[in-house]
Amino acid sequence: MTDYFEYKSGILHVEDIPVEKLAEEYGTPLFVYSGANFSKNLKELEAAFGDVRHLLCYSVKAASNISLLQKVASFGMGADIVSGGELYRALKAGIPSGRIVYSGVGKTAQEMAEALDAGIFMFNLESSEEMHLLSVIAEDKRLVAPISFRVNPDVDPLTHPYIATGLKDSKFGIPIAEAPFLFAEAKKIPSLKIIGLDCHIGSQLTSTEPFTDTVKILIQLMGSLREEGINIRYLDIGGGLGINYSNEVPPTAFEYAEAITKVTKQLENVTLILEPGRSVVGNSCILVTRVIYNKVTPAKHFVVVDAAMNDLIRPSLYGSYHKIVPTNQLGVLPTKKVTVVGPICESGDFLAKDRDLPEVLQGELVAIFGAGAYGFSMSSNYNSRPRAAEVLVDGGVARLIRQREQYEDLINGESLLETPEDDILGAKL
Ligand code: LLP
Repeated sequence: MTDYFEYKSGILHVEDIPVEKLAEEYGTPLFVYSGANFSKNLKELEAAFGDVRHLLCYSVKAASNISLLQKVASFGMGADIVSGGELYRALKAGIPSGRIVYSGVGKTAQEMAEALDAGIFMFNLESSEEMHLLSVIAEDKRLVAPISFRVNPDVDPLTHPYIATGLKDSKFGIPIAEAPFLFAEAKKIPSLKIIGLDCHIGSQLTSTEPFTDTVKILIQLMGSLREEGINIRYLDIGGGLGINYSNEVPPTAFEYAEAITKVTKQLENVTLILEPGRSVVGNSCILVTRVIYNKVTPAKHFVVVDAAMNDLIRPSLYGSYHKIVPTNQLGVLPTKKVTVVGPICESGDFLAKDRDLPEVLQGELVAIFGAGAYGFSMSSNYNSRPRAAEVLVDGGVARLIRQREQYEDLINGESLLETPEDDILGAKL
């Protein structure tokens, strides 16, 4: 729980607003963000790097609502994107194209053309084929594409295997040993301009060592590139800083910045680029859900709630732990071991397994913490469930920043077959 998600007289509040009130007004399941928490995290990271030259590019995939991106823009920060859709969102929200870095292993020709037209800051390239495709597109447009290569340092980030991205068998980045050859090739291509070196080794890291080990490897590479006349001006260290979901103790923004800058202080004329996602938005949001039923079987006590794996897939996909609490502590009932599940037709649809929770009755509300990062952004319409609404509480005001989807939204873009009525009626029986 942070300062912005607190019980006041036994009632859970987001900033100054009772969660129960928001649930009544906007329905459930409901993502509720604290703007103050989000801004505080951004400002803390910014302050932690202080006067070390850096550009903070918020990783849009973590939570992509354009209201959140607008806040990022208002602080003069940039964005890390991975698709044409994310470019569209970032620009819509007013993030300057000159502060956008484009990551991702499979940028299409169309996406690269759009990003070139927009004039983004840097393409983080991940393969030789990608480099050649970008160079052709840029040449056709008589433009020069600013590039970096994402290298894979083969450092173990000590996190969940699904979110480790810098090991040698990962699809991401180019093997560090091949990097000098690709840089040398890129140097010969007039429509490409090498400006950076990039990495991202994984997500939810809870110690600084994998970051500093990586940066040391990158600095070594920068040295050998310099000998070949390739000058790296931007060192993109990706995202990955973890947050507290249960009992992890991740480095603070200051500890993280201190560890990194200790290693990078020898560099001259190099600007750091950061791509934080989770550490900014993860603990800035709760998912509020209502208990539909208590279902007690001889083996288990299930609490069936109206949020499901389509709203928050992290527990199902990674076995992640998210703290769950009742929104009302008044008259709280004794604790029971329960499994919190959603209505989806999958045994993997759970939000917490065998968890000790105060008993919550039908109709009561619970809040699922740490739902900001990869929560709404990974949600889907599985089981034809309309996606949840998103609310941003900021400065004492709650704003609906995404409407709850309606049934019509579910079939948007679909069409019925144009079968003449009698074909159906006269079906061969
Ligand atoms: N930069 C790149 C190139 C990335 O791939 C990512 C995340 C980030 C930055 C931001 O990383 P962060 O600061 O949020 O750790 N769905 C998973 C996490 C996937 C991370 C994907 N890449 C989860 O829910 O844990």
